[in-house]
Amino acid sequence: MSGLEVKIEAMHRRHLAAVERVERELSAIPWSKSLFLQEISRSGDRYYRVAMCRRELVGFVGMMWVADEAHITNLGVSKRAWGKGIASRLLLDALDHASDGGIKDCTLEVRAGNLRAQRLYFRFGFVAVGVRRAYYHNNDEDAIIMWAYDLASDRERNRRAGIASALEVRKGDG
Ligand SMILES: CC(C)(COP(=O)(O)OP(=O)(O)OC[C@H]1O[C@@H](n2cnc3c(N)ncnc32)[C@H](O)[C@@H]1OP(=O)(O)O)[C@@H](O)C(=O)NCCC(=O)NCCS
Repeated sequence: MSGLEVKIEAMHRRHLAAVERVERELSAIPWSKSLFLQEISRSGDRYYRVAMCRRELVGFVGMMWVADEAHITNLGVSKRAWGKGIASRLLLDALDHASDGGIKDCTLEVRAGNLRAQRLYFRFGFVAVGVRRAYYHNNDEDAIIMWAYDLASDRERNRRAGIASALEVRKGDG
């Protein structure tokens, strides 16, 4: 699968069967289809996107916000499409949307043992600021709380522009 043809689109009801399949593939505590439906039905303070490669749904991201703080609620890429920059594109899209809409900072929780996701978030300027002990009830794993600050600052816009242009170069190499 090439990263070339990936398109980011709004998540709709018609995507939910495929979203649920990816979610079940990835998560020990998967969200249900009805939870995704509930989320995408709230348009005022939610942002849900899917990544499509040709006609196949390969990933998704979700974000909610309160006042000027956003929260990445979910992010997943089907295992067969890992390492092609799809999560990076989904995060770029979500964080650009947030900063363009006046959101200042963004937070998320990630499993302490999920170093792959943490590396991704570090690249996007997230820093670890705390721990929720035994947050994940399937195995009592801790959650690391991460924040990315000042999304609209030059520093953070430049960071995202750098990630976007590295993805373009890789596309060219592919
Ligand atoms: C974490 C997760 C979302 C990452 O998805 P992904 O699409 O593989 O992420 P990306 O491809 O954007 O980035 C992953 C790596 O591939 C590299 N990469 C990106 N595009 C690339 C390309 N075209 N060629 C080679 N490498 C590339 C990135 O630099 C990155 O490297 P790093 O991990 O050493 O920093 C995915 O592994 C996943 O769904 N995991 C399970 C669910 C999960 O953990 N969700 C987050 C919960 S908080």
